[in-house]
Amino acid sequence: MSIIIKTEEQIKGIRKSSKLAGEILIYISDFVKEGISTGYLDQLIHNYTIAHNAIPATLNYSGFPKSCCISLNEVVCHGIPSEDIILKNGDILNIDVTTILDGYFGDTSKMYIIGEPSDTALKLVKATKHCLDLGIEQVKPGNYLGNIGYSISKYATSQGFSVVYEFCGHGVGIEFHEDPQVDHASRKNSGPLLKPGMIFTIEPMINEGRPRVKVDETDGWTARTIDLKLSAQFEHTVLVTDTGYEVLTDVSNEY
Ligand code: MF3
Ligand code: CO
Ligand code: CO
Repeated sequence: MSIIIKTEEQIKGIRKSSKLAGEILIYISDFVKEGISTGYLDQLIHNYTIAHNAIPATLNYSGFPKSCCISLNEVVCHGIPSEDIILKNGDILNIDVTTILDGYFGDTSKMYIIGEPSDTALKLVKATKHCLDLGIEQVKPGNYLGNIGYSISKYATSQGFSVVYEFCGHGVGIEFHEDPQVDHASRKNSGPLLKPGMIFTIEPMINEGRPRVKVDETDGWTARTIDLKLSAQFEHTVLVTDTGYEVLTDVSNEY
């Protein structure tokens, strides 16, 4: 495997799919409220995706049963939406959507907060968003891929948090998961050099306590912190341009 340099035509397609993924996260925000089930949010996301001529990439992916991942509190990632999981005051949750539009993939996730979170929960969510922003700032041609994880882990640990190393970002666009693997904790000036036309996700998972995760043995997917303390995650799909980066899933400036 090697890192695909996308053509102009592929970039156009991935840009469109990524934009829709970003729009889904904005669309769903009005419905993320106390008393609502994550299964209901999944249904809304499924219907919205289909209505926009796209397919949710997670549905039936390696047997994953739903159209997005929703990961609450101590769940690090790959939470399965369910009618039995009801949002309550103080919860923090990540919603992760991946679209396939005209055959191209876009992948993004963000945190949502229900009512009044604890001080620690709020600090964790803000620090995790900052980790993603710091990682994105490292994206420019000629820089080392490893400097993304280096800057993320330096900041996360300075805040007293830990970086999950068992799940990573990934190349994306033509397929769901392509090369390279994007580690969120890495050594300075390590890994391949970035080149224009590369597209990958940056998706730091930051833990309140220990970095280790454990996958639920019953459902085979839900990954929880080993100490059951909180975890947060933000994800964007990023294109390396001639001068720096373009965040393909960031639609915030359009609303
Ligand atoms: N969207 C996730 C990612 O960021 C992958 C989810 S795979 C699933 O890479 F099977 F759990 F849905
Ligand atoms: Co991803
Ligand atoms: Co994702």
